[in-house]
Amino acid sequence: MWARVASCAVLGLEGAVVEVEADIAQGLPSFTVVGLPDKAVQESRERVRSAIKNSGFSFPLKRLTVNLAPADLPKQGPAYDLPMALGILEASGQAAPNAQDSLFIGELSLDGGLRHVDGILPMVGTARDHRYKRAFVPVMDAPEAALIEGIEVYPVPDLAALVSHLSREEEIPAFRTNPQSIEQEDPVYDVDLSDVRGQEHAKRALEVAASGGHNLLMTGPPGAGKTLLARCLPGILPRMGIDEALDVTKIYSVRGLLPPNTPLLVNRPFRSPHHTISNAGLVGGGSWPKPGEISLAHNGVLFLDELPEFGQRVLEVLRQPMEDRVVSISRAAGTVVFPASFMMVGAMNPCPCGYFGDPVRECTDSLAIVTRYQKRLSGPLLDRIDIHVDVPRVEYEKLTGNQSLERSASVRDRVESARNRQRLRFEGTDTTTNGEMGPREVRKFCELDEAGRNLLRSAVRQLHLSARAFHRVLKLAWLGPSPTWPEKMRSPRPIWPKRSNTDPVGLSEPGPRLSLLRWQRLTRQASGRVQVARSRAGFNSA
Ligand SMILES: Nc1ncnc2c1ncn2[C@@H]1O[C@H](COP(=O)(O)OP(=O)(O)OP(=O)(O)O)[C@@H](O)[C@H]1O
Ligand SMILES: [Mg+2]
Repeated sequence: MWARVASCAVLGLEGAVVEVEADIAQGLPSFTVVGLPDKAVQESRERVRSAIKNSGFSFPLKRLTVNLAPADLPKQGPAYDLPMALGILEASGQAAPNAQDSLFIGELSLDGGLRHVDGILPMVGTARDHRYKRAFVPVMDAPEAALIEGIEVYPVPDLAALVSHLSREEEIPAFRTNPQSIEQEDPVYDVDLSDVRGQEHAKRALEVAASGGHNLLMTGPPGAGKTLLARCLPGILPRMGIDEALDVTKIYSVRGLLPPNTPLLVNRPFRSPHHTISNAGLVGGGSWPKPGEISLAHNGVLFLDELPEFGQRVLEVLRQPMEDRVVSISRAAGTVVFPASFMMVGAMNPCPCGYFGDPVRECTDSLAIVTRYQKRLSGPLLDRIDIHVDVPRVEYEKLTGNQSLERSASVRDRVESARNRQRLRFEGTDTTTNGEMGPREVRKFCELDEAGRNLLRSAVRQLHLSARAFHRVLKLAWLGPSPTWPEKMRSPRPIWPKRSNTDPVGLSEPGPRLSLLRWQRLTRQASGRVQVARSRAGFNSA
């Protein structure tokens, strides 16, 4: 006697249908699981045995074989407990064979109750794609599973309730939710840009970075507000659409990090890993590859506070995913690709004591120490950061002033309109923001006139800009125009932003927003923070 029940595996962020086959044969009592099970799956035998007995059924004392097909796909985790138990009950004639078009996922407790399983969202998505009509999942995972449209989700409290449902004794009602209604909830962030006093230029840098999806580095003395500013960034980024939110939720689901009672993440992620993090913790890894911090920051912000304190090798592994926006990890279990499209924000003090260049407090570090500290950031990493901004100490008058400051929500409206312009500009391509433009798009969209070419030529020569830095200058300078707008609005010549009371940074109007002159200044910092420090310290030849 045998039975077959469908379930699902997750490798990376992708699900794969697994068929759980149970066979009962005459012979000495035994229970074997085959089909590349890992330790947790092997241990399922004990949970399944107890759950069946404690749910009022009898465990067959015969030769029992459970096969997890396909046999070449490694199986991991406790999600196969429920299909295994159901397969055994069906094969021993204790449950009705009524599970066609259905998929079962869940960890069993010894009393037959169902426990949470990681990765429900990708598993139910895979079930829908394979045309299964019903998914049976643990009760607490039903809201997450119900985000997938086109499949009925049944919240299963325990094994006995599932068997009654399948034999049509007592039906479990299907769980329904409306993802659109969750999406419409406005995200709430715990810090607001209006909490930050002074630092207008740093706020503008944040806004420009948010508009174009650029990486940002803030440097300044302790307590100037760098961490505070970085924490404001998710609040001024555009609201996530349902597809973006589902992508983010999937990653958190696989890592088991979805907060309770939050089936869909509507807030942009903000990840701030400690500087002692390992390579695998940052980019992902493990023998069963799991997404790392850069993937948890997908569609949001990866904040590296105290940037020079991060290990040099950890920072270097960031370089490739920052460029490719995905990270590919190869392990014995297989090669998986995790999305990693994040905005990187770094914060650092200019030296170990924090006061190098401060007009008030004297720096107590020797020049050699300052140089060594700043050299911890490699040129290639600095080259990938589009905006470098100084965050100096805040003056007393600004700190104590009681004028009301602009709130994140209104800055976000401008950022959203800037993003819409970029969407128009890149219509029909994979690119969505200026920060993602490749060399071909830069050539197509960022055409320079004679004066601009001359200015950039001298900038590249004098500041020793790399080819990447050259492209970054162009990408940042074109925050505005779209090829579909009238000619006068597409002037290739970047202009100064028009500011007004309602738009203090001048981002709401179409047209290029940043002048090349301003860019000359910003890229001077970008290309040569270390050189600046060295020359200030009289170390030009070092
Ligand atoms: N510009 C500011 N406006 C209002 N409060 C501020 C500002 N800057 C700092 N603060 C206050 O000081 C605290 C510390 O600021 P924050 O952690 O952002 O400093 P930091 O620049 O990151 O310092 P460090 O270099 O030591 O990490 C904040 O939580 C806030 O209470
Ligand atoms: Mg800080």
